[in-house]
Amino acid sequence: MSDIAENTISRKPIAVTLLGLIICGGLLAMPGLAGPPNSEAVSDTVRFIGRFHPVILHLPIGILTLVILLEIGAIFSKNSNTSTKIPMFFAAATSVIAVLAGFLLYQGETEGTPTEVLTNHLWGGIAFSCVVIVGFIIKAWTDAGASAAWLYRAMLLIGVGVMTYASHGGATLVHGADYLSKYAPPALKPLFGGEAVAAVVEKPAAEKTVYDDVVAPILEEKCWKCHNADKIKGKFRMDTYELLLKGGKEGKDLIPSDADNSLIIVRSLLPIDDDERMPPDEKPGLTADELMIVKWWINAGASPDQKLAVANPPADIAAAITRRAPVAKQHNPGEAQANAAKEADAAKAKTDGRDKIQLAVAEVQKSFPGAVQFESQDSNGLTFTAVSMRGKFSDEDMAKVTPVIASLVSADLSASLISDKSLALLTGATGLKNLRVSETKITDAGIDSIVKMASLESLNVYATEITDAGLQKIATLKGLKKLYVWRSKVTPAGIEEFKKKLPTCVVETGT
Ligand code: HEC
Repeated sequence: MSDIAENTISRKPIAVTLLGLIICGGLLAMPGLAGPPNSEAVSDTVRFIGRFHPVILHLPIGILTLVILLEIGAIFSKNSNTSTKIPMFFAAATSVIAVLAGFLLYQGETEGTPTEVLTNHLWGGIAFSCVVIVGFIIKAWTDAGASAAWLYRAMLLIGVGVMTYASHGGATLVHGADYLSKYAPPALKPLFGGEAVAAVVEKPAAEKTVYDDVVAPILEEKCWKCHNADKIKGKFRMDTYELLLKGGKEGKDLIPSDADNSLIIVRSLLPIDDDERMPPDEKPGLTADELMIVKWWINAGASPDQKLAVANPPADIAAAITRRAPVAKQHNPGEAQANAAKEADAAKAKTDGRDKIQLAVAEVQKSFPGAVQFESQDSNGLTFTAVSMRGKFSDEDMAKVTPVIASLVSADLSASLISDKSLALLTGATGLKNLRVSETKITDAGIDSIVKMASLESLNVYATEITDAGLQKIATLKGLKKLYVWRSKVTPAGIEEFKKKLPTCVVETGT
């Protein structure tokens, strides 16, 4: 390979020039010719090749660095006869391959309109490749006798500059904009693109809002990295309140007052190895405390500006908030203590008889650790979720839940193996308010059981076999406020009829 390169190169600087310029032209024209990325039109093979971009791109970077070190060596050693022509050839060749792979990645995996960082990174990569190619062309001429060594070295320096720019863009795409600045010494933060830290002034407790001071910092830490202006995964930005509520590719991802049907919660609760779990790739997600806090905020209406003091979180949420930010609570210890005592009394009144329920919970926990929980510290209502077992949870498993069924206020059996049989068991849940049986095998026959759960307020039968006939039966649940029927067998006409029978219920059809 290197022999061939040597021969073609040294004898034919003109041919090298022509070929090099054609390749540069091709790279520069490529984004325009291919048009904006449209991931749906791209095959998996393209995506597969594209994913090698992050590996390949290190080759030209390493080789160019080597070229520069060799050139520096040549400046200091008088009788050096090392030519950097061959390594420079490989720097150029691998840079072209890296750009091509990167372009396939760009075509295959850009969701929505490319962001500014992404577009800049694309052009940065192409510019880098062109600079290295031109550098190589100049080297071919100097080796053939032209006196342009200084120009060659200038191109190398420009190459380093463009490379730094392009790699920084790439790193921002992969790691987020604050990657370098996050742990930088405060004085250096602005240098690395971070915000200069003003002296930390703690906001007075009375001015703290639930969203800005509690919820947004949680989402910032765990979610913004991939859902911000630079990187809009799932066409979903979470870095401002408005965009968080607007939703993404799948529509609304946050439904105020309905955390259990908000995708940001649903997808955070999935088992760590589930493809749809957020964040993906087994990255650390929301902790139990954080989940509890975000769910509470959504269920309280997801207000953008409600003051924390006014929101008056229940004791367990307040404790979770304090655990996350221990300083926040120490402003008025007297008042805090009085409140805590009051809350404890109120809680006690509501939770008499809890011991017995606790025993039942303990028994069910043996089979399904973590699946049953008290709705809150001051309630005897229980929530059950099969979400961490999903495809393994069957009707037989549901039978093991029987000891706690009478106390359930919320049950999530979505994407499990349960059938109408489990629904029959659930008729014992007289206080059940929220039932999710989406993506299960339940049928219209099961609706006969569901209509016996007279306290139901929210029902999710998304992606089931339910038809218009089942839907009309559901209309007898007078207390139902929300019904989710996307991707089931119901028709728009059926929904219209349902709405006439039960106008107080909001029907979510996913559009
Ligand atoms: C490492 C990157 C990454 C992180 C961190 C991340 N996500 Fe995602 N998210 C993605 C990708 C990629 C998609 C699009 C593919 C998909 O829907 O699975 C996505 C899609 C979503 C969607 C669906 C959007 C729609 O409308 O289609 C939701 C909801 C979501 N993420 C919530 C979250 C939440 C909540 C967090 C923080 C707990 C989070 N994500 C953290 C990468 C990430």
